Amino acid sequence: MKRIFSGVKPSGDLTLGNYIGAISNFTKLQHDYDCLFCVVDLHAITVPQDRQELKKRVKDIAALYIACGIDPNKTHIFVQSEVPSHTQLAWILECHTYIGELNRMTQFKDKAQKLGTDGLSSGLYTYPVLMAADILLYDADLVPVGEDQKQHVEITRDIAIRFNNRYGETFVVPEHFIPKVGARIMDLQEPTKKMSKSENDKGCILLLDEPSIIRKKIMSAVTDSETQIYYDPQKKPGISNLISIYAIITNKTIDEVVEEFKDANYGTFKKALADKLIERILPIQERFKDIRNSKELDDILDAGRDYAMHLATRKINKVMKKVGLGRH
Ligand code: AMP
Ligand code: TRP
Repeated sequence: MKRIFSGVKPSGDLTLGNYIGAISNFTKLQHDYDCLFCVVDLHAITVPQDRQELKKRVKDIAALYIACGIDPNKTHIFVQSEVPSHTQLAWILECHTYIGELNRMTQFKDKAQKLGTDGLSSGLYTYPVLMAADILLYDADLVPVGEDQKQHVEITRDIAIRFNNRYGETFVVPEHFIPKVGARIMDLQEPTKKMSKSENDKGCILLLDEPSIIRKKIMSAVTDSETQIYYDPQKKPGISNLISIYAIITNKTIDEVVEEFKDANYGTFKKALADKLIERILPIQERFKDIRNSKELDDILDAGRDYAMHLATRKINKVMKKVGLGRH
């Protein structure tokens, strides 16, 4: 059976962007692949984290995975830092990654431009290599992610190919899976920017937001001065973003949504979207409450860790042998 690996950082509360761009696809793909879904806490500490908050969020994300419909009986859910081979392999791969390649990573470049490099950790710089280690350790065939992670999956492929050429077939070269619609959900207040955990509150819907807050955020989403609803991300980024969200949440195509609302005004459309969104998110919130503090969650994460550890240990031993590390 082909394998999937993907991860989400516990660096903030899960957003609607995470759900649409990544997690809702995990739930669709889980039936056809051997799936490893990781809470990537080592990636989270590339920027400063409060330790209590981090601990809490690791379990929040794991519980949300399940609440969103990932079936723990079918998949393996685990915490990255509990499997030491991730950092071991990351180091080895760092020694096979060029500085020039890392300099081209747009996510790092954007951060460096905004904040300057002096205050940025070297972990943030080598972040994509740790991500490559996550994926290559398990010979993942497919990596479902949002658009912003495409370049990181590409560098993973480059590293895998380079390693295989040098040491012989070692890693599966993975493909990314990026959804056609919803791969980049935009901020509701600034629809030319990605919706993100760290950006402004009003523009970002959190999966655990109260329904009344979700409604408020949708109703006050920035649109444009026209009145007609149609899809044109360049000219109408706000409305087009809302159309994408509606399409994903209701399992419709963009064209179907546009047809449905062609005679409606923005207010009516936003109200319909808020209704659908709340209808979808409320059951997730209910399940989250049941799971978050259950013993079952720890059992699931223990089992996930054991499964991951088994695969990862085999792989890291193989890699060490190929590179010539250690005595055996
Ligand atoms: P992160 O929260 O950065 O760990 O992201 C976890 C997953 O959610 C990754 O696959 C991202 O590409 C995806 N993701 C994050 N924000 C968005 C967004 N605004 N639109 C679509 N996908 C997103
Ligand atoms: N870097 C990813 C993000 O910010 C999270 C991540 C870490 C990941 N390791 C991964 C995603 C491996 C897919 C596969 O979204």
